[in-house]
Amino acid sequence: MKQVRLIIVGAGNRGTVYASYAKEHPERVKIVGVAEPRDFYRERMIKEHDIPEVSVFTDWKDLAKEEKFADAVIIATRDHMHREPAIKFAKKGYHILLEKPMALDEKGCKDIIKAVTGKKIIFAVGHVLRYTRYTKKLKEILDSGRIGDVISLQRLEPVGYWHQAHSFVRGNWRNEKESSFMLLTKSCHDLDWIRHIMGKKCKTVSSFGSLTHFNKENKPANAGDNCLECAYEPLCPYSARKIYLSFLKRGNTGWPVNVITSELTKGGIIRAIREGPYGRCVYDCDNDVVDHQVVNMEFEGGETASFTMTAFTKARQRETRIFGTKGEIYGNGTKIQIYEFLTGKSEIVDTSAKDPSSLADHGGGDYGLIHSFIEAVAENDPSKVLSGPEETLESHLMTFAAEKARKEGKVIELKH
Ligand SMILES: NC(=O)c1ccc[n+]([C@@H]2O[C@H](COP(=O)([O-])OP(=O)(O)OC[C@H]3O[C@@H](n4cnc5c(N)ncnc54)[C@H](O)[C@@H]3O)[C@@H](O)[C@H]2O)c1
Repeated sequence: MKQVRLIIVGAGNRGTVYASYAKEHPERVKIVGVAEPRDFYRERMIKEHDIPEVSVFTDWKDLAKEEKFADAVIIATRDHMHREPAIKFAKKGYHILLEKPMALDEKGCKDIIKAVTGKKIIFAVGHVLRYTRYTKKLKEILDSGRIGDVISLQRLEPVGYWHQAHSFVRGNWRNEKESSFMLLTKSCHDLDWIRHIMGKKCKTVSSFGSLTHFNKENKPANAGDNCLECAYEPLCPYSARKIYLSFLKRGNTGWPVNVITSELTKGGIIRAIREGPYGRCVYDCDNDVVDHQVVNMEFEGGETASFTMTAFTKARQRETRIFGTKGEIYGNGTKIQIYEFLTGKSEIVDTSAKDPSSLADHGGGDYGLIHSFIEAVAENDPSKVLSGPEETLESHLMTFAAEKARKEGKVIELKH
């Protein structure tokens, strides 16, 4: 396999995760350039990958002005900053791995697809769930015909009560104007995954959901504005003090604690709760994204799928039931339980074995995606990519249509 020369645009969390593949497989990839405005993250990338100064930029726009000097680029900027760089780097002939979501609206997604189509470039989107050991095994079982034809599917995305409070009530994804709608920021992975598993185009969608609980009407009379000054706090499961200090108690100072403060002590956490956005009353924030939503889908051939996203769960592991003409499957992201109608045979397939790789997160999906992308570029073989332009556009269009269906109370037909 030839060594791929790769540029990282946006050396934050995701950019750094993907770049670490180059450290594990230096024979396959060399990071030869970076664009990142934040000094710490840029310097760290330069140091870890020995990037020459001429190939270091603080803004992707300056990097894009240069003559093409690498094979591929990873675009891992925040959601609103995907469309422009994707189009620009496609025009320059770079192979592209673009983080999800592709863009924040239908037009943005279509513009990107237009820019990458017809060029001899590999294009992949960060739908890591397609690349997990679990999904690959599940797809293999379905393709073997063991449960016959898939007629319907049911998927649950349990966000988790404290995760909802952290990210979607107090945190970065709480407000549509500041980020985007919940189905796009959190669940576009799921609609894409359902499309992948059904192996067919979606014809029609409907959706219901709202922000029912985390609003001012539900604020208890004796609640304060901050968890540290609140008479209701002992009875509140969403208390910031309870959430963040319980992580510290268990010795966990990674996510989500490191999101609220860089001072990873009891004092640091209390200060962040008192002074920052993460101590605000969950019933009195500027959040407007839904806390529960359902989407119903009909596929070509009449098969159906239903999806539920809800904040109100203990678990955070997605669950799926798949109903076939010859059997049934239950899966929870690691275990796949198969039941065959004819033989009455049950089997549990366990896909939870840990990878030795440092990119083992997302059930091996992060590793699977970057590995497939690099292989596709090195061998000039787009078929290695499971999240290419056509199906990714399709699943984004399903997501936008479902949100429109929810907002307008309509059943929406997708035009392919
Ligand atoms: N595939 C997944 O499972 C998954 C998981 C988490 C996040 N994401 C997506 O990945 C993307 C990045 O998320 P993140 O958590 O890494 O965010 P992040 O904020 O950690 O990283 C984004 C980086 O882009 C940099 N940036 C800003 N302006 C720039 C510019 N002009 N030129 C170059 N870089 C610039 C920022 O400084 C930051 O370091 C988002 O779109 C997010 O939705 C995907």
